[in-house]
Amino acid sequence: MVIPLTGEVEMPFIVRSEIMDCIDDPATSGEDAIRYFKDGALVVDDGKVENFGSAEDIMSEYSGLDVVEYKNKLIIPGMIDTHIHFPQTEMIASYGEQLLTWLTEYAFPTEKQFESYEHASEIADFFIKELLKNGTTTALVFGTVHPQSVDAFFAKAQDKKLRMIAGKAMMNRNCPDYLQDTVDSGYNDSKALIEKWHGVDRLSYAVTPRFAVTSTPEQLESCALLLEEYPGLYLHTHLSENVDECDWIKKLYPDSKDYLGVYEDAGLVGKRSVFAHGIYLSDRELNCLSENGAAISHCPTSNLFIGSGLFNLKSSEAKEIKVGVGTDVGGGSSFSMLQSYNEAYKIQQLQNNKLSPYKGLYLNTLGGAKALDLEGTIGNFQIGCEADFVVLDYAATPLIELRLNKAKTIHEKLFALMMLGDDRAIFETWALGEKVHSRDH
Ligand code: GUN
Ligand code: ZN
Repeated sequence: MVIPLTGEVEMPFIVRSEIMDCIDDPATSGEDAIRYFKDGALVVDDGKVENFGSAEDIMSEYSGLDVVEYKNKLIIPGMIDTHIHFPQTEMIASYGEQLLTWLTEYAFPTEKQFESYEHASEIADFFIKELLKNGTTTALVFGTVHPQSVDAFFAKAQDKKLRMIAGKAMMNRNCPDYLQDTVDSGYNDSKALIEKWHGVDRLSYAVTPRFAVTSTPEQLESCALLLEEYPGLYLHTHLSENVDECDWIKKLYPDSKDYLGVYEDAGLVGKRSVFAHGIYLSDRELNCLSENGAAISHCPTSNLFIGSGLFNLKSSEAKEIKVGVGTDVGGGSSFSMLQSYNEAYKIQQLQNNKLSPYKGLYLNTLGGAKALDLEGTIGNFQIGCEADFVVLDYAATPLIELRLNKAKTIHEKLFALMMLGDDRAIFETWALGEKVHSRDH
């Protein structure tokens, strides 16, 4: 039976469509990294991928199941945003400043409002809808210093059964008094949130010192203590984003080898550590990230919008460092991971590097999953993975339709769709085998 696109679907069911995912990094495995079926099928049971392959094979093996069928669409795994600030949603696109003045002029005053749980809850609701509208099913999310901001966010994410990682910002110096915690309150508030949320449903906690500028060495050490106390926690912070920020770090930590050395000295560099930006890293810092299995979240729209610099993807690839993509909203100028690819492509062009759409797809899905140490759970359609997926529309806009009608290969189609696409290209978003966003309904 083929069921209409608006209907409720009972599991198990089959999704039949043009479909693709990544099983490896195209930078190392080329086209072998990609699985693509012009007429493909995904079997979903109990919220997970039961099987994946050509429709011909799947339909005969699973006859009798309900089928959700799409025409002129492309299904990919749910996209993974490896760095974003939910409390900065309402200050996206704030004019004219670079990082340090942007923080004081725009970010800090906006974040003050999250002392109110009601405000946090309202923005969290909007934010999660915006993620789903853009095909993002998992994100690593900064809260504000207020623990209630993270409480509000997790409650909304839990409601939608999403896989989300978040943490309260820890910041005990070099920022307005109204946004400061202390070593003790930062530790205790984080601990209470961990006890309440970490490992509950699909939620995980990230210990979140804002950056080494706004934490004392003692606060960074208290973060390491939390990581030791609770298994499976993440460490989420900023690293080497902006030249003035890097100069300030040298003054604040004169005895450190370099910026990453500050986090390393505190015991914060491990395989669940995610560092946003990483633009100005030395060879030693790259080696340290690689040896410890730590990840970089590359944030293309943000790096251009707040004028931070050009991320060197090649040097991370050469050291086999895990890299995911982050929108970094509100420093980033779009929630769309497709638009992040658009800007990432141009950042690499300026460095004479071709960023293929396959690599773009990888960064937005499996690369993100690896960066978050979640390969085998999300990021592709391996059997047993959670069934988070996105239905992209080849006719999302007249221009996209016109351009794709001229495209001869899937490489060309995917490239044009990612370059031109945004939330209009996201026809539907599904999480854990349930539809959580429909563009037209
Ligand atoms: N560094 C410290 N805080 C922030 C922030 O909120 N956004 C960005 N992009 N960088 C930061
Ligand atoms: Zn950020």
